[in-house]
Amino acid sequence: MCGIIGIVGVTPVSGRLVDSLRRLEYRGYDSAGIAGLVGGRIERRRAEGKLRNLETLLIEDPLTATTGIGHTRWATHGAPSVRNAHPQVAGRVAVVHNGIIENFAALKAQLIGQGRRFESDTDTEVVAHLIDRELERGLEPLPAFKAALDQLSGAYALAVLIQGEDSQVMGARRGSPLVVGEGQGEMFIGTDALGLGPFTNRIIHLDDGDFVAIDHQRARIFDRAGVSVNRAMRVVPAASALVEKGNYRHFMEKEIHDQPDACQHTLSAYIDPITSTVSSPGVDFSAIDRLQIVACGTASYAGMIARYLFESLAGLPTDVEIASEFRYREPALRPGALALAISQSGETADTLAALRWCKDRGIMTAALVNSPESTMAREVDVVFPTHAGPEIGVASTKAFTSQVAALTALAIAAARQRGRIDAAEEARLAGVLLEAPRLIAEAILDDGWILPVAQEIAKARDVLYLGRGAMFPLALEGALKLKEISYIHAEGYAAGELKHGPIALVDEATPIIVIAPSDALFDKTSSNMSEVIARGGRVVLITDNQGAGHAPEGVNVVIAPACDPLIAPLVFAVPIQVIAYQVAVLKGADVDQPRNLAKSVTVE
Ligand code: M6R
Repeated sequence: MCGIIGIVGVTPVSGRLVDSLRRLEYRGYDSAGIAGLVGGRIERRRAEGKLRNLETLLIEDPLTATTGIGHTRWATHGAPSVRNAHPQVAGRVAVVHNGIIENFAALKAQLIGQGRRFESDTDTEVVAHLIDRELERGLEPLPAFKAALDQLSGAYALAVLIQGEDSQVMGARRGSPLVVGEGQGEMFIGTDALGLGPFTNRIIHLDDGDFVAIDHQRARIFDRAGVSVNRAMRVVPAASALVEKGNYRHFMEKEIHDQPDACQHTLSAYIDPITSTVSSPGVDFSAIDRLQIVACGTASYAGMIARYLFESLAGLPTDVEIASEFRYREPALRPGALALAISQSGETADTLAALRWCKDRGIMTAALVNSPESTMAREVDVVFPTHAGPEIGVASTKAFTSQVAALTALAIAAARQRGRIDAAEEARLAGVLLEAPRLIAEAILDDGWILPVAQEIAKARDVLYLGRGAMFPLALEGALKLKEISYIHAEGYAAGELKHGPIALVDEATPIIVIAPSDALFDKTSSNMSEVIARGGRVVLITDNQGAGHAPEGVNVVIAPACDPLIAPLVFAVPIQVIAYQVAVLKGADVDQPRNLAKSVTVE
């Protein structure tokens, strides 16, 4: 989703605005723009498409401002175009915005009725007009900004520039992220610490509803009611160094290789290797009678894997629901339940809304997040961290396996707390789980099986993924990975469902990828493969050495390391990620920034 940057600088800022926007590219965007104050007047440059188009424009027509704002836009209201790109300008005001102004239509009609003319189809332009109208009514910039904010409903992070205010940028957040960065005689606002990484690591996280005015020396912060407040400044560890691709071609490739470390670091938050005990800091699962997981996309598949573990190991009734649907069925949750959000970003709007729904009803809330300063982390009763480091590729890889690793640890802790396993079994399971990083590394190294398979898949128009038990969510994840980055239509099914419909799709042109380690379910899944082959279908089987020995005649095999079923979702995640990655590379797709997708979906 959109990325925001604002700088009150002492030297020209256009290069730095673009540098920051480049760090926010991972969020997904389809146009970009910057604006600055030149000779007291607002000047802007905007371009459709990638940032290089904006850079070309800036070479032809430089912007010399020392105070400015910038934006990468992921279109919601109005097609991607220069006209709809931000900054949006009205009168003396330039605005960049992430989120959706839900009452923009009514506001726009009112403003048009007052004689104001609109240039774009965006919801954002109303914000610029509202502030400009308040300035025309005689308010000073900050009160005018506050008066405009009071009229908005919906979600926003905003950065605002006002003509004549050469050393000030204002910002506000409600439902979308915004941080302040402190420099030396310069101040910044931006979407996240990564975007400000090249300039400062001294970061202030605004609370939801805050608004702020920065100048050369300070940030004046106010809460929703307009009361001046102090928010803590934190030094963010080496944010700038953490987003380099190194020698990898794509962030996704790097992040696939980061997984052993990411899982290792994550597990160290839950498992004490000396005592072989597993903890769930902040939650006693013996006091919980139901676990309600809410999440979107890949995170929801991590939740589905966790359901198998929490129910089979800990005997804890567990539901998993896509966050965007959760609220609409009025779930019958009672105190005693724990609502657990799973989210890499900690900012996904639907997941946040589902958490808030639970909180409003007195349900205890927890969030498994990769961003410790995210809105979810700040709003829940208990934070469970993943330590995957920043994930830049839009297609989630290391965040997913880190989520599954953490959830597996939590399920073991829950099993122990609920008296379902004794200390010896806890220690055995902890030992098995601690093997996962090494086996993930093996799976990554042993990817020689995959290129011939990827070459086949790259020619397909449709692909089916099948799995049983905890491999079913992996089938869903495999299909999502493939369609996200290679644009090949793919669907995941529970292998047992094949005969209830999807088998009608089987033909020579539709490869079927079956994920089946040699476990108790292997023989049943093997029968499903035979059914496919009997109908002329082509099967790729992802299994271990033993499974390969029992594979039906005619299947194409990808071998993953043999492992305990507890960690099979972690180890078998690797080949499905690598298949999707290699197919996308073969097709020449934009692996890290697939079309239409945003890394963090901050609108509902
Ligand atoms: O930041 P979150 O984990 O809440 O994001 C949830 C989904 O948007 C995300 O997993 C999405 O499905 C990924 N692009 C999948 O690769």
